[in-house]
Amino acid sequence: MTHSKTRYDFQDKHADYARLALELAGLLAGETDLIANAANTVALIFDALPNINWAGFYFLKDGELVVGPFQGKPACVRIALGAGVCGSAAAQRITLVVPDVQEFPGHIACDVASRSEIVVPLIRGATLLGVLDIDSPELARFDAVDRHGLEHLAAIFIDSQGTAGRG
Ligand code: SME
Repeated sequence: MTHSKTRYDFQDKHADYARLALELAGLLAGETDLIANAANTVALIFDALPNINWAGFYFLKDGELVVGPFQGKPACVRIALGAGVCGSAAAQRITLVVPDVQEFPGHIACDVASRSEIVVPLIRGATLLGVLDIDSPELARFDAVDRHGLEHLAAIFIDSQGTAGRG
């Protein structure tokens, strides 16, 4: 498999997220391994998106979130459902866009450089698999286009895990 050398400048965010989605679908095609596909997904995102300092997965295991493949500084390993941005997005099953993490009650600071954050829950059928978490050193880094774009990328990753149980 060859990894394309697509470059993204995000001058046209809609177009670049669409290209990124195609590239991710190609990257994950024919592979179902959770760790392999999670690792490649965050590697692609971390390489492509400007102004981010952490991108990674937390997966739900025995009722709590446990860190999975990521890019960036070492992170807290376990997050309870309902705790921090990740645990809140997971518990509420909605994407949380936090323009200023210091204003988010209970925010868990893994990298002190992080100023804004987006967390997308990973839901297959009725099952919560975990979350995709991305941090930025810039305030209000993520907007509605990022939310839609990253939800689409998360959906491609979820699809790579098979469609069984999808509701
Ligand atoms: N900030 C997250 C914790 C995970 S790190 O950002 C990698 C939170 O509040 O849940």
